[in-house]
Amino acid sequence: MPSILVIEDKSAMQQMLAATLLSEGYEVDLASSGTEGIARAREKHYDLVLTDLKLPGADGLQVLSEVKESDPEASVIIMTAYATVENAVQAIKLGAFDFITKPFDTDRLSILIKRALENRRLVAENILLREELAQTIGLAEIIGRSERMRQATELVQKVAPSDTTVLLMGESGTGKELFARAIHHLSPRKDGPYVTINCAAIPRELLENELFGSERGAFTSSVARKMGKFEIAEQGTIFLDEVGDMDISLQAKLLRVLQEKRFERLGGTKTIEVNVRVIAASNMDLREAIVRRAFREDLFYRLSVFPITIPPLRDRRDDVPALADYFIQRFSMEMKKRPVKISREALALLDKYHWPGNVRELENTIERAIILCDGRTITPDHLAIRLATSNEIRLREGAGLKEVAAFAQAEAEKSLIKRILAQTRGNKRKTAEILKIDYTTLFEKLKKYGLQPSREVLEPENVVA
Ligand SMILES: Nc1ncnc2c1ncn2[C@@H]1O[C@H](COP(=O)(O)OP(=O)(O)OP(=O)(O)O)[C@@H](O)[C@H]1O
Ligand SMILES: [Mg+2]
Repeated sequence: MPSILVIEDKSAMQQMLAATLLSEGYEVDLASSGTEGIARAREKHYDLVLTDLKLPGADGLQVLSEVKESDPEASVIIMTAYATVENAVQAIKLGAFDFITKPFDTDRLSILIKRALENRRLVAENILLREELAQTIGLAEIIGRSERMRQATELVQKVAPSDTTVLLMGESGTGKELFARAIHHLSPRKDGPYVTINCAAIPRELLENELFGSERGAFTSSVARKMGKFEIAEQGTIFLDEVGDMDISLQAKLLRVLQEKRFERLGGTKTIEVNVRVIAASNMDLREAIVRRAFREDLFYRLSVFPITIPPLRDRRDDVPALADYFIQRFSMEMKKRPVKISREALALLDKYHWPGNVRELENTIERAIILCDGRTITPDHLAIRLATSNEIRLREGAGLKEVAAFAQAEAEKSLIKRILAQTRGNKRKTAEILKIDYTTLFEKLKKYGLQPSREVLEPENVVA
């Protein structure tokens, strides 16, 4: 429940204000002079101070500067008669939220108070976001010196200072979110809000409400007016994550915001203009989504003014050791463990692995290894990755039918060859006979599947029944 301090010397007026605000559910304290008001504001935090301009003791302007000094986040509304409007204007310059001229009806006052409180919430939200942002260092946080990463970060540096819309593309876990933050951080908007919204995580109706806000009563459930993320991001950056998952009907509204920088809240008629830089990201192939008619082509062209593709980790293996090192240091520090090293075998395993979950998977793998590792060195035993799984996982992700068929055939061949080799105790000629293939074909297949009729093949657990 928001708390309000009312400073008013005329007792009838004071009582009327108290009754109105109490009936609206606010917590109300009263003061009859400027000095009393200042004393109270020093003792207690108020969300809002409603003060008369002309007061015995200290006047409204003094109250304002005192309140702002002890609590810069508090909103102050000044009540004034027509004769002193000039002073009220000065009050705004000194940081008052607004003023209201007497006589006024209580409805107007209520609306003004609601607006002031909403504004306070927003300010608080921005501060929070900014603090969160302050933790990022921008490009320094993006690890990777491979040629392909260097190209991508160079694009970030080039585009960041402008207001250009950026589309970040890349598989899950490649660092799209990291890049988006870096772009904001390197832009002139860095002190403005950075607002992110995940379009895939929220159902359509709610997403519209989240993005554009709503007027009171736009839904049966919406009691209060709600600010949308586009408004919250004013003067800053909005990051539309997983934009490919946005409902096609909502895409039209987004397109208009991108084109005209204006929109209406849900259930509202007033047009709201915004000054927001848009960064979008998608891990799905948007061109393919266009073909499926799941994504608007015109929106795609609006968003992809400046596309940046972040390559998957398997295409920039040079980055693996540096990333592993970085995560080892980070997690050892976070978990207050002695710094550990990584064995050559473990590093070789990381290097060979396919990384379907990209940097996120590497990050998780290292975190786990640090937890498991009691000694000073991470060994392959600490790494929860199996090289054999990499092909299977690659297959699960966006493989064509031909590839699936080829994979299935290879797996079937491999397992049969293994079985027969085990039966014949590694006799290749006999194996070829049983399989009704000639010896050279068998030889080629053994090479292709990395099956040497050694002990490994003959071990019973490797024999698939
Ligand atoms: N180059 C990098 N240097 C350091 N950390 C990175 C790098 N790339 C990614 N990460 C880390 O990997 C994790 C995944 O990155 P991020 O969340 O940015 O991926 P994403 O592309 O947004 O994935 P998704 O599509 O699944 O949302 C994060 O914890 C991020 O900090
Ligand atoms: Mg992401």
